[in-house]
Formats: sequence, structure tokens, C-alpha cells
Amino acid sequence: MSKTLVITGGAGFIGSNFVYYILKKYPDYCVVCVDALTYAGNLSTLKEALKNPNFRFEKLNICDYAGVKNLFEEIKPDIVINFAAESHVDRSITTPGIFVDTNIKGTQNLMDICRELEIPRFHQVSTDEVYGDLPLDRPDLFFTENTPIHASSPYSASKAGADLLVLAYCRTFNFPATISRCSNNYGPFHFPEKLIPLMITHALADEPLPVYGDGKNVRDWLYVEDHCKAIDLIIHDDRLGEVYNVGGHNEMSNLDIVKLILQKLNKPESLITFVEDRKGHDRRYAIDPTKIHDTLGWSPETKFKDGIETTIDWYLSHEDWWREILSGNYQNYYEKMYGGKI
Ligand code: NAD
Ligand code: TYD
Repeated sequence: MSKTLVITGGAGFIGSNFVYYILKKYPDYCVVCVDALTYAGNLSTLKEALKNPNFRFEKLNICDYAGVKNLFEEIKPDIVINFAAESHVDRSITTPGIFVDTNIKGTQNLMDICRELEIPRFHQVSTDEVYGDLPLDRPDLFFTENTPIHASSPYSASKAGADLLVLAYCRTFNFPATISRCSNNYGPFHFPEKLIPLMITHALADEPLPVYGDGKNVRDWLYVEDHCKAIDLIIHDDRLGEVYNVGGHNEMSNLDIVKLILQKLNKPESLITFVEDRKGHDRRYAIDPTKIHDTLGWSPETKFKDGIETTIDWYLSHEDWWREILSGNYQNYYEKMYGGKI
């Protein structure tokens, strides 16, 4: 049956991958992307989607009550999936306020509108970072859905705050929501301020590759399409009030990732430059995905060795995309597409 999906944050990394995933898998669905086009939003990422008559883009801030309510009244979404967020830990250390505004207040605003309009389903895209970190010398420990919330950065604290609000709305108002907490994603359209795309683009330019601290911090990397598949399963399942951890048992240290990228690009390790550590830097993230595997049958499908090759190839064949970001020109794309029309 055809559905109308609102995808907030769809001009960002994971949201845009989800837009393309849904348009391909459900050709009869209507997809409406709500995105404020902050520095992390790039409308040119959605240029193929914009050709699809079942896709619509709305430049809107999720904190804008009247704007979002008017839109939702008009389109009557069946499902709202909230990807919109300030997502970069380093930025949350310099400017925490915007993280509280978008990640917490924005989520609350969306949920209030959904409640008022009795929208049947809301999904919150969260992160494993809400659990804090694990020690490097206990490889037997993993985050489960019952691991206590113990956020370390203003980013993860704001995501945790939103998660607590979603769960409180579920309990207090019987709000029909679910939450997914995923590990680090990688793949196409990843903004080049994050580890993997930053290292690829620096290596290609023969610029220093800045590794924080000793480079031994571990992340559990998942190919972005596997994350999209997990959310697809969750939103098409009837269970409400559930939290699902999403991750693929693919732990790697930052230094190993950086060395692998250099090797694939045939660049020297002398480009690696150790820099001052991130404040409060989480040591290790590692997901136990048993619940989503056992209840929804999800397993990661892309092996890291394949996913990283695809990703590097993508950056090699989409230089225009990331060079426009590095030059700042991408922020003119909206004007070019919509200037004078609205
Ligand atoms: P991103 O920074 O690439 O994209 C965020 C998008 O949200 C951008 O298009 C931006 O313009 C938009 N946005 C920001 N503030 C907004 C606002 N107030 N109103 C409307 N739109 C706004 O982020 P991402 O990496 O794609 O992450 C998407 C979601 O997934 C986030 O909620 C993040 O916490 C979560 N997540 C990310 C990862 C990861 O590895 N990147 C892992 C787990 C969970
Ligand atoms: P990042 O991509 O910012 O994701 P997150 O902090 O949400 O996990 O960083 C991934 C890891 O890489 C993290 O341990 C910090 C480290 N890092 C660097 O060493 N150098 C960099 O320039 C960046 C951006 C990150």
C-alpha cells in the first residue's frame, strides 16, 4: 500500500541515502524531505531524487512549529523519520547550544505536531554514542539496549536527551514511536568533516591526515545502506516503544582505518599527523545487534573490505560533489534550484 514518508535531515549523509533507498524500494511511496540546509545539508546530493515526481523537498527547520505543522496538515504523513540533527562531535564541543536546539527541542517539536495531528508513526534515528564508551581492554563488552545512557559529549548528551523524550512520550501519551541506535556509518555523501571522507579527501590532496591522540580509539563501522535496511525493517514492523541497536561487529581503530585508506590510494604513511586529542574523546564503541537480528531478521550485508572500496571509489568518481563542499559553493545550490520560485 502506498505511504507518505517524511524524512527529516534528508539532505545530509544518512538521510539522503535513506531517501534513495526508499524511492528505489517503494516506487509507489511519496517521500517528503524536510531539511533546513544547514552547513551539513547539500541539496545537490538530492538532485537525482528531485527528478522523481514522488519526491518533494521542503526547506524547513524542524524547530519551526507553524511551518512543520502546515506541511504535515497538507501532506498527512503515515510515517515521520527524524534524521535531522547537528551530528559532529567536534562542533558540539565549540557550540553546544545549537545541538540542544535541533537535537532535543527539534525532536520535541516534531513529536508534538505528530501527536496533535495523530500521525500514526514516528521513528527517531539515534546513535550508539548515547551509551558513552567502552574500555579498550575489555573486548568482551558490547552496548545492548539495556546499557545505561552515559553520554560523553554535548552531541551525544543532546541525542540522549531526545531519546529520553521519545521514550517518555511513548509511556505518557502512548506515542507511536521507535528508536534506532546505530554505530558509525560510512559510504557515499558523507560530509568531509568526518573521519573517513576527511582522510580520503586529504590523502588525495597530499595534505596531512590529522589523527587525534594516539589513534587507538575504536569505532564499529557500518555501511550506510545496512543502516537504511535496518530502519526500513523497524518502520514497517508494528512493535512500538522499542529501541534497537544497529551495528555490524566491525570494530577498527582510527589508525588502522587511516592506514588502510592510504594503502588503497597508494599514498605514504608519512602523511599521518598526530594532533591534540578531542576533549572527552570516547575510547571504544561496539554494538550488540542481537535484538534487531532476532526480532526483525536484520544482519549487515556489506563487508567492510567491500564497503570501504566502494566508498573510496565513490569519492574518486564524485570529486565535483566534495570539491563543491570544500569550496563552499554547495550552499548556492538551493538558490540556483529554487531562487525566485518560493
Ligand atoms: P548530517 O550532519 O550529515 O546531516 C544532518 C542533516 O540534518 C543535514 O542535511 C542538515 O541540513 C539537517 N539539519 C540540521 N539541523 C536541522 C534542523 N534544525 N532542521 C532541519 N534540518 C536540519 O548527519 P548524518 O551523519 O546523516 O546523521 C543523521 C542522523 O543519524 C543524526 O540524527 C545522527 O545523530 C544519526 N547517526 C549518525 C551516525 C553517523 O555515523 N553519521 C551514526 C548513528 C546515528
Ligand atoms: P567522527 O567521524 O567525527 O565520528 P564520531 O566522533 O561520531 O565517532 O570521528 C571518528 C573517530 O575519528 C573519532 O574517534 C575521532 C577520530 N577523528 C580523528 O582522529 N581525526 C579527525 O580529523 C576526525 C574528524 C576524527
